[in-house]
Amino acid sequence: MPLHPFNGQMPRLAPGAWVAPGAQVIGDVEIGAGASIWYNVVVRGDVMPIRIGARSNIQDGSVVHVTRKLAATSIGDDVLVGHMALIHGCKLMDRSFVGLGAIVMDACVIEPEGMLGAGALLSPGKRIGPRELWLGRPAKFVRLLDDAEVARNAAGAAGYVELAKLHRGSQG
Ligand SMILES: CC(C)(COP(=O)(O)OP(=O)(O)OC[C@H]1O[C@@H](n2cnc3c(N)ncnc32)[C@H](O)[C@@H]1OP(=O)(O)O)[C@@H](O)C(=O)NCCC(=O)NCCS
Repeated sequence: MPLHPFNGQMPRLAPGAWVAPGAQVIGDVEIGAGASIWYNVVVRGDVMPIRIGARSNIQDGSVVHVTRKLAATSIGDDVLVGHMALIHGCKLMDRSFVGLGAIVMDACVIEPEGMLGAGALLSPGKRIGPRELWLGRPAKFVRLLDDAEVARNAAGAAGYVELAKLHRGSQG
């Protein structure tokens, strides 16, 4: 797996976590059971730590980083991060959702089941509350998600756990 030490620290993967070929995971990074880091993702835990919880997925081409002395990155359980997202020095709580191409800047928080839509830019320090949907650049609160949307987002995250197993199995 493409794991690299930095400053004496090696990324740590729980059983069942998967890092795809072409991804790069560096330094003080912990990845939980069943989580998946997809093709060409960079997770760089050099100047602060990065934690990624169980069954969360970071989709292809995304970047996860931190800010020195200011902001670590913490991603909870069952979080979905869409393709080409940028997750920087922030906290994504359990079952939150970051849409494809979205940017989450320093000191932001997305609370459980909160959603940042595709292409949005969450500016520094903003907080998305539980089940809130935010859209746009800069992102603004739009509305609350209904039960069906929360269930769909959860199914998306669960689907990625299964898809990761298939990819992993295909690679032998
Ligand atoms: C926001 C989202 C959930 C759609 O919500 P919705 O309420 O069903 O939105 P609709 O498609 O009915 O569109 C309603 C309006 O919002 C706009 N809109 C939809 N998605 C938007 C987005 N991401 N950003 C800004 N505006 C958006 C539409 O253009 C439309 O505007 P209009 O009324 O001026 O025509 C969806 O677009 C989205 O971002 N999904 C995330 C998908 C993703 O990233 N998946 C990860 C990979 S698996």
